[in-house]
Amino acid sequence: MRLKGKSALITGSARGIGRAFAEAYVREGATVAIGDINLEAAEKTASEIGGNAYAVKLDVTDLASIEAAVKAVETRTGGLDILINNAALFDLAPIVEISKASYDRLFSVNVAGTLFMLQAAARSMIARGKGGKIINMASQAGRRGEALVGVYCATKAAVISLTQSAGLDLIKHRINVNAIAPGVVDGEHWDHVDSLFAKYENRPKGEKKRLVGEAVPYGRMGTAQDLTGMAVFLASEDAEYIVAQTYNVDGGQWMS
Ligand SMILES: NC(=O)c1ccc[n+]([C@@H]2O[C@H](COP(=O)([O-])OP(=O)(O)OC[C@H]3O[C@@H](n4cnc5c(N)ncnc54)[C@H](O)[C@@H]3O)[C@@H](O)[C@H]2O)c1
Repeated sequence: MRLKGKSALITGSARGIGRAFAEAYVREGATVAIGDINLEAAEKTASEIGGNAYAVKLDVTDLASIEAAVKAVETRTGGLDILINNAALFDLAPIVEISKASYDRLFSVNVAGTLFMLQAAARSMIARGKGGKIINMASQAGRRGEALVGVYCATKAAVISLTQSAGLDLIKHRINVNAIAPGVVDGEHWDHVDSLFAKYENRPKGEKKRLVGEAVPYGRMGTAQDLTGMAVFLASEDAEYIVAQTYNVDGGQWMS
């Protein structure tokens, strides 16, 4: 068990990739707060995972909610060891159709949510004096632009940049900040992405998903489980000397 006795908070973990991370962390011995804006779904997920998983109401766009979630973790487990900044929103539109509302929504969850969640976790870890591990969810979308994905790509590029700055600033407190950049990962998120591409590229539903899967050098879309090895590794003692990096876990789609 590589995370035995550790206390983790995973944002947006009621479903999808965050949920798979929570399951893997519990298997590795951690106690895991399922932090999500959808409390009912978070409670269901926590009870399905069982053992050391519990639900915490969390809206990463709300500073008071962030503070309350960190306090809840401290009260329940004695302190926070690991944060995964996983919650994010997606949208798609041609550049000339991007709305200010869509821009604000995505930047407030994906960028401000990541920064201020990371800040609250770091303050808690610094006060405790035992270091910690923070993992941000970036994306291959943060490595380069995409014609219809301007805002989401920009938010993920910002996450990679924040990972670098926070990584450099916090390592003196023995807090390692790193990121994971997945490629295309099947799940409810990509069902939504597929329906947006169907609309803007005039395709039948499901076609975009099939095409992106075929384009992955590995030969298929990723699964949430494909990412858990990296998430456990970056939270473990084995990653102690890794600082401010973003790792592609994408079946070979991007090389950097
Ligand atoms: N699925 C992919 O193909 C893919 C690829 C690259 C990167 N990623 C990244 O991986 C992460 C997880 O993706 P996913 O596919 O599991 O997404 P998802 O949409 O399935 O899950 C996101 C979760 O975040 C929660 N959430 C939304 N707004 C929130 C808020 N304000 N506060 C707290 N929780 C909130 C939702 O309720 C949901 O449970 C995201 O950061 C995403 O950008 C996903």
